[in-house]
Amino acid sequence: MATTVAPKLYKNYIGGEWVDARGGSAIENRNPANTDDLAGMFPASTAEDVAAAVDAAAEAYKTWRLVPAPKRAELLFRAAELLVRRKEEFSRDMTREMGKVLAETRGDVQEAIDMTYYMAGEGRRQFGKTTPSELPNKAAMCVRQPLGVCGLITPWNFPMAIPSWKTMPALVLGNTVVIKPAQETPLSVYNMLEVLNEAGVPRGVVNLVSGAGSTCGPAMLKNSGVKAVSFTGSTEVGILVGEECAPLLRPCHLELGGKNIILVMDDANLDLAVDGCIWGGFGTSGQRCTAASRVGVHKKIYREFLDRFTARAKSLKVGDGLDPASEMGPVISKKQLDTVMSYVQIGTNEGAKLAAGGHRLQGGPWAKGWFHEPTIFADVDPGMRIAQEEIFGPVVSVIPVDGLAHAVDVANGVKYGLSSAIYTRNVNAAFSAMRDLHTGIVYVNAPTIGAETHLPFGGTKQTGNGHRESGDAALDFYSEWKTIYVDYSDRLQRAQIDTGNLGPAE
Ligand code: UN1
Repeated sequence: MATTVAPKLYKNYIGGEWVDARGGSAIENRNPANTDDLAGMFPASTAEDVAAAVDAAAEAYKTWRLVPAPKRAELLFRAAELLVRRKEEFSRDMTREMGKVLAETRGDVQEAIDMTYYMAGEGRRQFGKTTPSELPNKAAMCVRQPLGVCGLITPWNFPMAIPSWKTMPALVLGNTVVIKPAQETPLSVYNMLEVLNEAGVPRGVVNLVSGAGSTCGPAMLKNSGVKAVSFTGSTEVGILVGEECAPLLRPCHLELGGKNIILVMDDANLDLAVDGCIWGGFGTSGQRCTAASRVGVHKKIYREFLDRFTARAKSLKVGDGLDPASEMGPVISKKQLDTVMSYVQIGTNEGAKLAAGGHRLQGGPWAKGWFHEPTIFADVDPGMRIAQEEIFGPVVSVIPVDGLAHAVDVANGVKYGLSSAIYTRNVNAAFSAMRDLHTGIVYVNAPTIGAETHLPFGGTKQTGNGHRESGDAALDFYSEWKTIYVDYSDRLQRAQIDTGNLGPAE
């Protein structure tokens, strides 16, 4: 029997209060596997809402920065415990708003749990340095200082993991934050915020403003109260974010596009390589920054690999991520589906050979969602657009390569540099590839996806602007060094000049 349930109306969280957006309008959050399913209505925030959140965060910063880091960390630890307890519920919410299969949304929430525990540990580390001064009776040290209000603009493909990568290091270091989640996936950030709140994080320390990037983004970036910005999204938008930060000389972390490759050498374990290419290429429907959208295959094993890879791709079960039988969910939106379909057309026009998939899935279990077949192009030339541009969908280009040197050239011949992988049993080849692949992450005998939270994450070239998130690398972005000299000699000592008796003869 059909029932009509009024959609849940969510609010912004500003200064410790749940508040409506000033304009009062709302944005629908629909399930991409079934667009009849409305997961909630979220505020369409205005510039005024963003300003209020920044003000609240600035006010809270005055006291939060003075809370001892181990105490801040205890709150994060408590939040991690709450995330563990609510993992299943949050994973289901995430599949409903984002589409990826439940096993993967559980992984996403787990990644947030891992990050929260990790950063809770940083409460009792955050080590600075002490070092001898060049002068007598003088101490020299440096300590990490927070930056202030951090503006976090987060993507829809990892709706809780990536917000946690930014929020947890920021908080443990004593910053306060304003989060602007992707318009498609605010619910997961709402859930993360709920546990931080329940854990006892003081009012104003974490603020959430939902809405359109085109409205909230500029409002956040133009606000001089925001002292650092972290953005994950497209290279195109990332450049605009960087341009807005430049005149203020404001620290800005950009985590942008990828065109990642898996190289399969002629001595590879082919079963393992096929497993890796299926997972790397079609996990999250190819909507990871780290997705393997290219596979470079040694010509000696090219045909055999391609046959096995395409057979596996054709057998993948595509469906609603909440159905345990589904191996691949929908793409996030009609817009994303259109992009995927346009690239299939581009690849066909460029003369690549469609070896698997290539079509939207419609009717039956797919009637109400944005589903696309796992798609493989074979015999792809590395210069083709499908082998150069980020598609962010279930489309993989297979490129024949002559050997290791050619494989590495092909791998590096794109404008991005996030992740790369090589399947080989030759230790010399593996180490050469580890040295020569120009990406921020390299895998050996594993696909391009699956980064762990305690190591640096980020990329070279147009994937980013040199910063890394995750692990202790994140501490470097969300803090700055303060160097402190304490002179206890009771006299004027001049560095570089007063070399004293011990200095070289004058
Ligand atoms: C992303 O693709 O945007 O390494 C993040 C991975 C995940 C994170 C991906 N742990 O695939």
